[in-house]
Amino acid sequence: MTYDVAALRTHFPSLRSGTAHFDGPGGTQTPTEVGRAIADTLTSPLSNRGRLSESEANADAAVTGFRSAYADLLGVPASGIVHGRSATQLTYDLSRVLARQWRAGDEVVVTRLDHDANVRPWVQAAEAVGAGVRWIDFDPATSELDEASLTTAITTRTRLVAVTGASNLLGTKPEVRRIAGLAHQFGALVHVDGVHYAAHQFVDVAGLGADFFVCSPYKFLGPHCGVLAADPELLATLWPDKLLPATDQVPERFELGTLPYEVLAGATAAVDFLAGIAPGTASTRRERLRASLHAVDAHELRLRERLEAGLAELSPDVLVHSRAADRTPTLLLSLPGRRAWAAYEFLARRKVLAPAGSFYAYEPFQRFARPTSTACAWGWRPTATTTTSTACCRGCATSWPAEPLPACRDRRPYFRPWHTTLSWPAGSGRPFHSSRRSRRSGCSAAALSCSPATWSGQPVAGAG
Ligand SMILES: Cc1ncc(COP(=O)(O)O)c(C=O)c1O
Repeated sequence: MTYDVAALRTHFPSLRSGTAHFDGPGGTQTPTEVGRAIADTLTSPLSNRGRLSESEANADAAVTGFRSAYADLLGVPASGIVHGRSATQLTYDLSRVLARQWRAGDEVVVTRLDHDANVRPWVQAAEAVGAGVRWIDFDPATSELDEASLTTAITTRTRLVAVTGASNLLGTKPEVRRIAGLAHQFGALVHVDGVHYAAHQFVDVAGLGADFFVCSPYKFLGPHCGVLAADPELLATLWPDKLLPATDQVPERFELGTLPYEVLAGATAAVDFLAGIAPGTASTRRERLRASLHAVDAHELRLRERLEAGLAELSPDVLVHSRAADRTPTLLLSLPGRRAWAAYEFLARRKVLAPAGSFYAYEPFQRFARPTSTACAWGWRPTATTTTSTACCRGCATSWPAEPLPACRDRRPYFRPWHTTLSWPAGSGRPFHSSRRSRRSGCSAAALSCSPATWSGQPVAGAG
């Protein structure tokens, strides 16, 4: 089955705005089907969950449909799917519940590669009960986790290892299965932050060795919420604080208050939409998801390779820091001597959205932002629209030399990693094309060369 980007894009009304979205790790745009599911659920008869009236049954169907969709997406039983407001909230809640079992002398292990949502909740929960914290470092030169600190951090004292499935800053996909194996040898639990991973990857929670796995549907075409997946038998051993009249059932006892039924319906619609991207002949939704997400993966890899080839030509004006052997199409770039924030503003004025910032990947960001660094980092995700981004790229190309980025005087405050995924199925996947003008202007070149026309086989329209 071919991966038809143009057809896919017709489902995304927001792409008509003309903004080229290179902000993948921040979230995706939303297909009509997801918006419609939210509106339909909210405007249909709707009450609290029940079976007696149509409105009660609608609420119930939204919940059961959501659990079944995320069971298919993540490969866990439906009763192991917990809804949350965000992955951050779910991780904080879980950390507090698990910490009740920790004692002084116990340790949790976190990494310096992770988004802060999979670091701070564990560090703070450990501190609250007098448990220790061990760190697995990462090597900025390779963007891989540091093997020595990995093998020494996990010991008989370890109660929990928190590791990312994929870094939203660098794209690195650590060897989660191996890390989980080490943790399990010592009887520790494994919490995997799958927020960035699930946006690019067919997920098999058990295959990863994750005891807990969190993801956020808004990163893969759904509404803003979070999902925790775990073995229901493991959840049944945990007792979060909850209201007395609220059910003791798993997974409901982890979900506080009335559920947002319309959000659940939207999140379900996102899974159905993903399953329909390139389903092949598979009969189950999980198998359709597998086929579709493999097609997305192949598409994104093609784009990443083209982009990397173009960026390599621009070295040393542009430095690429995403070097892990296994990674998502997410690049962290730096523009030595230049302010990434200024590049962000420059492109945003031309409707190319490629934000600068730490993206809450606080620990890895700190490693790159050391005072001696000459780097400003940036990157993008080619989800620009098919026609308008050509015009944006043309605008960048023609105005860039007259409007150069200010050079960094004080390096540290100006250091702003500016990263994003290279592609998403909603995007048309602009390939990189290096022009002479873009080479001359150094860091600007990568954005100038982002041409949708090239991707669709037409000549580059706007590069000069
Ligand atoms: C890797 C990663 N983990 C966790 C989070 C936090 O997710 P949420 O916004 O659902 O709390 C993000 C958000 O960008 C992320 O990229």
